[in-house]
Parts: sequence; structure tokens; C-alpha cells
Amino acid sequence: MLYLIGLGLSYESDITVRGLETIRKCKRVYLEAYTSILMAADLPSLEKFYGCEVLLADRELVESGSDEILAGADIDDIAFLVVGDPFGATTHTDLVIRARELGVKYEAIHNASVMNAVGACGLQLYNFGQTVSLVFFTDSWKPDSFYDKVLENRQLGLHTLLLLDIKVKEQSIENMARGRLIYEPPRYMSIETAAEQLLEIEEIRQEKCYGDDTPCVAISRLGSPKQTFKAATLRDLVDYESGEPLHSLIILGNRVHELETDFLLEFAGDAASKQKFADAVTADAENFKKPAPYITPAPGDDEDKIFDDFRRIRL
Ligand SMILES: C[S@@+](CC[C@H](N)C(=O)[O-])C[C@H]1O[C@@H](n2cnc3c(N)ncnc32)[C@H](O)[C@@H]1O
Repeated sequence: MLYLIGLGLSYESDITVRGLETIRKCKRVYLEAYTSILMAADLPSLEKFYGCEVLLADRELVESGSDEILAGADIDDIAFLVVGDPFGATTHTDLVIRARELGVKYEAIHNASVMNAVGACGLQLYNFGQTVSLVFFTDSWKPDSFYDKVLENRQLGLHTLLLLDIKVKEQSIENMARGRLIYEPPRYMSIETAAEQLLEIEEIRQEKCYGDDTPCVAISRLGSPKQTFKAATLRDLVDYESGEPLHSLIILGNRVHELETDFLLEFAGDAASKQKFADAVTADAENFKKPAPYITPAPGDDEDKIFDDFRRIRL
């Protein structure tokens, strides 16, 4: 049997009782070590807590060597540990599909995920739209497909959770070209970088999806003793000091409930910052309430164009 076991977000003891009991009866235990990290535990502390050896599974092993993970799983029990929930914003469906192909049974043992724990900032999970990922830009590569999803969410008044890039075991272009297996130190995107990149893309796209004054929430080290939330405008977050990883960012929808705002104000800072944030939420909501003007379709206009015009004017 293949067991996909969620570890939760922070401590080794965040694992569920059923997860721990299962690990202890498994022949091999793998830890998926590239899509997230535990906030208050590491490999030695996990091994000590579980009382067994834990094998690190990097991206290459999971994506290209899944048969190695699954070897013998038709006879023995194998555990595949995932930080958060095994199906929370990760792509382990591939491993499950491969297990099915090999006739290996599988079972998921769930746990808390960043996808639900962000509710701790006071925003209602019901009011979130599509989650997006933001990757590190390079000089020549600035992928902006997230922008369309944020735009769709904002048109519906929904909040957007942005998960920020993690680069683990990456090679520099030079080392890759020379075939040298030398890896760069891990990199975790900060809130400051995320805010800069978001504003850079708005500057390029100019579709007024969000701007300097858009209210946001920065979430750092969720579920750990060093957890922090910061409610601020997107521009103010460029100068924020988010500190140690991991971080996530929320762009608020422009239909924020009064209770959500009240809860968030606690994380805005001093009285002036609270007022600034409350004003930003109000201004954003006004934008949402503006009625969309009616556009008379011109003969020959296709529906996509009308929809595009509508989207632009609506914002
Ligand atoms: C690809 S997701 C993996 C999610 C994981 N499987 C789960 O269910 O929580 C990883 C991203 O989620 C966010 N994240 C995960 N844990 C976090 C935490 N404790 N605090 C803040 N952000 C976190 C970060 O943006 C990180 O890059």
C-alpha cells in the first residue's frame, strides 16, 4: 500500500495520530522535500519523532523516478510524506496515477494545508477565488499568467491567495551547461519580491487589475511560533520586512465583509496605518460597486471582443 501522509505546517508533532501509526508500520518512508517546508521541524527532528529513517525525495525522484518510490509497494507499506496536505496545492496526483497503473493500492491521510490555514488571518475561505503561484522572475522571463486569474477573481469580488516560489536543488545555467551537479542554495520568495513583481506586471499589462493602493495581507510562517500577518497596501508591502520563509500573499477581493476588515485591522499596525488600510478597503469596494456601462454591440463585433471591452471598462 502507498500511504500519502500530510504533515501539517509546522511541528513534527502536527502529524495526525493515524499518520504516525502508519509511518511506524511502513517499510520505507519518503519525505517530499521541494514544494514546501515545515516551519518548526527538520529531517533529524522528524526521524527522531517517528523513530525511523526518512528518505528525502527530491523533484527528480518524484517526477522521474516514481517507480523507485513504488518498488515493492504491492507487498509492503510505503509512506510518502508531504508538508501540509498531500493534495493541497501540490502535484502528487502523478504518483497516484502511477501507483494505479502498477496495481498498487493507495490511501491519503490528510492534514492542515496552507490552503485552509490562511483563514487564520480573518478572511473567509468562502470568499476566495482561484489560487495562483508566483514564480521568481529573471531578466528575460517574467511569466504573468497569474494576472488573468487574479483579474477574474477581482471581477467577482473574490480574494486571491498567491503561493510564492520555492527554488530547491536548482542548478545555475553555467553549471547545467557544464553538466556539473552543483546546486544553488534554496531560495524562498519574500513578500517584498512578490509585491514588486506584481506591480511590475500591472505596469506592463495596464489592465487595472490591482495597483499601489490595493489592500493585501502578507502571511509569514503560518502555523509556527513565528507566524505573522501584515495587512497593508500592495505598495507598502514592497518595503515590508517579511523575514524568514515561508510566505504567502493575499490580494483582497473588492467585496470585503465588515467582519473581515475588523479582523484584519489588528494586523495593520499603528492608528495611522489602520486608517490607511481601512480607507484602501473602502476605496477598493467603491471601485467594485461602480455599475458597468452598457456597450451597444457594433455590427460585426464578435462576442469575445465585447466581453474584453466589458472587462476593461468594468475595472
Ligand atoms: C506548493 S505549496 C504546497 C502546499 C502544501 N502541500 C500544503 O498543503 O500546505 C507551497 C507554498 O505554500 C505557501 N506556504 C506553505 N506553507 C506555508 C506557511 N507555513 N506559511 C506561509 N506560506 C506557506 C508558500 O507560498 C509555499 O511556497
